[in-house]
Amino acid sequence: MSTYYIETFGCQMNKYDSELVATILDKHGYQPARSIDESDLILINTCSVRDHAEQRVKNKIDDLYRFKKRKKGLVVGILGCMAQRMGQSLIDEKPLVDFVLGPDSYRNLPELLVQLNNGGIDKTEFENPYDDDETYADIYPTRFGEINAWVAIMRGCNNFCSYCIVPYLRGRERSRSAQNIIHEVKELVTDGYQEVTLLGQNVNSYHDGKTDFADLIRRVADVDGVKRVRFATSHPKDMSLKLIKAIGEHPNICNFIHLPIQSGSNVILKAMNRKYTREHYLELIEHIRTHVPNPALQTDIIVGFPGETDVEFQETVDLFNEVKFDGAFIFKYSPRSGTAAFKLKETVSEAEKTRRLQELNRIQKKITVEKNLKLVGTVQEILVEGRSKKRKKQQWMGRTDSNKIVVFNNTAKIKKGELICVKINEAEGQTLFGELLTSPAEL
Ligand code: 5AD
Ligand code: SF4
Repeated sequence: MSTYYIETFGCQMNKYDSELVATILDKHGYQPARSIDESDLILINTCSVRDHAEQRVKNKIDDLYRFKKRKKGLVVGILGCMAQRMGQSLIDEKPLVDFVLGPDSYRNLPELLVQLNNGGIDKTEFENPYDDDETYADIYPTRFGEINAWVAIMRGCNNFCSYCIVPYLRGRERSRSAQNIIHEVKELVTDGYQEVTLLGQNVNSYHDGKTDFADLIRRVADVDGVKRVRFATSHPKDMSLKLIKAIGEHPNICNFIHLPIQSGSNVILKAMNRKYTREHYLELIEHIRTHVPNPALQTDIIVGFPGETDVEFQETVDLFNEVKFDGAFIFKYSPRSGTAAFKLKETVSEAEKTRRLQELNRIQKKITVEKNLKLVGTVQEILVEGRSKKRKKQQWMGRTDSNKIVVFNNTAKIKKGELICVKINEAEGQTLFGELLTSPAEL
């Protein structure tokens, strides 16, 4: 039987897509390889969001030459956003690649593999039209995780933020039906998953004609046996008070909210086509802090967008000090051909982008440490995920509702997937260290 190996770059949606591809392959007689060395088919699922991400993939492809040399008949396929963006030109640049397949074309994979095995593939004609109807709603992904299962509730994006390539690669927004999603969540519970994460480029604009995202997440949280519900990603322009209240009212909807602001300056937000203001964002934060108990907030920032002066950058710095996020992903602006911002002249040097990135990271790190230190002495409920990579034997890890990692000594043979209480004794950078509370009197 032929075997496959998939390596995934990029976002959670890509990880989910790799799980879909695994099901498609399993149904067509392939099985997962124990290692990349042993596989007959190597698939790389790729990301195009920044140039740096594409360069990493290209290095990875170059690294595959040694496998190709060693094993006759080894097939290499490139999936995901880079396959969609570059199409044929990726094969021209990296001739070891046998085929490319974009995010809406994974159903074509078995047919393509048959053609390849028969030696009949035309390597000069790769075109990846996107299919605005494809949701893969009938395919149950082969989950690679044991505790958390990702569930894509929608695909595509209609927002066209001026810097972003995603809408050009993943097509227009389309939602799966709530009924279909609930059915899958019930199956996940039967299969032993404790946590589901609802995924979409902008989950706040989910709508199946009858159900909006706030109603959907309530229904998911109400499914018997679902211990935790997470979701990503939220767009501030579409985040409703109705949703915020739903998060606050359901104890099993996690109080962790990833809400990318991208910039603290209204001038830059306008140039980015984000369709909200700094004031609107701050108002949302206020609503969240009013209606959700102990919320944890995370954001994304792009520094060095064309036209971002010191004054505008300072507005982002001020916003960081005002909001005090629990975490932030900070990126240097990377021009993407085909986007609206690509036509704008870059005004911020690479060195200045680096300086801004480092400044924000420094501020954020300090805030994260301060926030984590405040948790020392408190009791937290964590969902146990398994052994800790960080420390010695017996050390296990789990996550709080607010997505913070807690390492503890597993003296009581606690199993993966259990919800337990730990007392936090120490905070070290991003990680908390806790002690298992075993007797009820200690709780
Ligand atoms: N340059 C830098 N960062 C980008 N992102 C999206 N496009 C770009 C780009 N061209 C960031 C945004 C988004 C995250 C997933 O990636 O911050 O929220
Ligand atoms: Fe890109 Fe904006 Fe869509 Fe997110 S919402 S995928 S940043 S266009």
